[in-house]
Amino acid sequence: MARVIAGMTMSLDGFVADSAGGTDCLYPDLSELRGSPYIKGLIDQTGAVVMGRRTFGMAEPDSYVGDYEFQVPIFVLTHEPPLVAPKQDESLTFTFVIDGVESAMAQATRAAGDRAVTVVGGVSVVQQLLNAGLVDELHVDVMPVLIGSGLRFFKNIDSDRVQLEKVEVQEVGERTSLRFRIAR
Ligand SMILES: NC(=O)c1ccc[n+]([C@@H]2O[C@H](COP(=O)([O-])OP(=O)(O)OC[C@H]3O[C@@H](n4cnc5c(N)ncnc54)[C@H](OP(=O)(O)O)[C@@H]3O)[C@@H](O)[C@H]2O)c1
Repeated sequence: MARVIAGMTMSLDGFVADSAGGTDCLYPDLSELRGSPYIKGLIDQTGAVVMGRRTFGMAEPDSYVGDYEFQVPIFVLTHEPPLVAPKQDESLTFTFVIDGVESAMAQATRAAGDRAVTVVGGVSVVQQLLNAGLVDELHVDVMPVLIGSGLRFFKNIDSDRVQLEKVEVQEVGERTSLRFRIAR
């Protein structure tokens, strides 16, 4: 079965977005990251992507095809699918999932085949998946910035449920990429 990886970029003080919901301060290295071996590794291992509707809304819906890193089936959790489907092609398709995280993961796992399901955010979706015991690996990229306020990555987590085992620490330019296995 496809392994499930949940990953986000976090400030050193624990935020994944600033108080306006922006992430620019967490991605000063965006242009170097794109096309880097680090991103290429993530792309190669990913067979499907899961995201929440707010994370989906960070980019123009029609810009995903051809421009987004992951040109694979994308599953967006929402209670209100858009009336007009965003642009899709034979590689990147959109499925708007209205019946919960278990359903999203089941559909994404089927689509991913022998590759991983990568959950790219946001906090709400990752929280639900961690609390439901549906994540195999947690990737936290720590950027050396202090944001002070904003959206915390870790809140409302059932800490008894999530047992972490460190598997890798990678230096990627300014970011420190921490990888943990989660006992299911
Ligand atoms: N630092 C990073 O690496 C990174 C990466 C991604 C995102 N972000 C940031 O994270 C923020 C977004 O995270 P977020 O936690 O606010 O939102 P999110 O998880 O991206 O999306 C939340 C939305 O997803 C839908 N949803 C969630 N669970 C659902 C369920 N069980 N069933 C049906 N729909 C469900 C709901 O959409 P509806 O309202 O449509 O019902 C909900 O409002 C943004 O500020 C973004 O900039 C940061």
